Amino acid sequence: MDGDLLKFLTQFRNAPRSVGAIVPSSRELAEAMIAPIDFEKARVIVEFGPGTGVMTTAIVKKLSPHTRYVGVEVNQTFCQTLTVRFPHLHFFNRGAQDIKEILTSLGVDSVDAIICGLPWASLPIDLQVRIMSAISDVLRPGGVFVTFAYLQGLVMPAAGMLRRRLKAQFAFVKTTKIIWRNVPPAFAYVCYR
Ligand SMILES: C[S@@+](CC[C@H](N)C(=O)[O-])C[C@H]1O[C@@H](n2cnc3c(N)ncnc32)[C@H](O)[C@@H]1O
Repeated sequence: MDGDLLKFLTQFRNAPRSVGAIVPSSRELAEAMIAPIDFEKARVIVEFGPGTGVMTTAIVKKLSPHTRYVGVEVNQTFCQTLTVRFPHLHFFNRGAQDIKEILTSLGVDSVDAIICGLPWASLPIDLQVRIMSAISDVLRPGGVFVTFAYLQGLVMPAAGMLRRRLKAQFAFVKTTKIIWRNVPPAFAYVCYR
């Protein structure tokens, strides 16, 4: 079995609600998630919940030397793996809800893009609210927030809640095409502040 698959399964078994998936996202979903980022102009890009780094890999391929990357991963095992795999990037073994504090420690007050791999449907509501509020605090006006959802989850009440929250919080929200090759099939919300 692929090393990342095994790592994901093991971490899912240890913390199912926090990891929220049994396999990493596909490269196709990662490409769709990062497509809205303007890599020429972005000064700071944040990633929430990079896991084993599928989306990080896609970001790194386009990252310019003038752009700062900040990864925030609550799972210690994933965070250690990421640090070894991407030694030139900066990862924090913290929660996304702490992003303002993390950025302040780096002398950064706002960011251009947030790529979010968090498992919204399985996070406690109060944590979701704190993370959304933290996003508003740090995303610059006109900045982009991208987060994915599984197609199968659309029938669940949590999916409706997320959609309503995104529409209330952002100036403009659109969805990407469905990535059928992802397991399970998924799409992303692309939200502009
Ligand atoms: C569904 S996995 C996605 C992993 C990866 N982005 C991917 O798409 O393959 C969710 C990730 O979010 C992380 N996570 C969960 N809650 C978090 C939080 N509050 N702050 C930061 N990361 C969190 C988990 O540890 C896990 O790595």
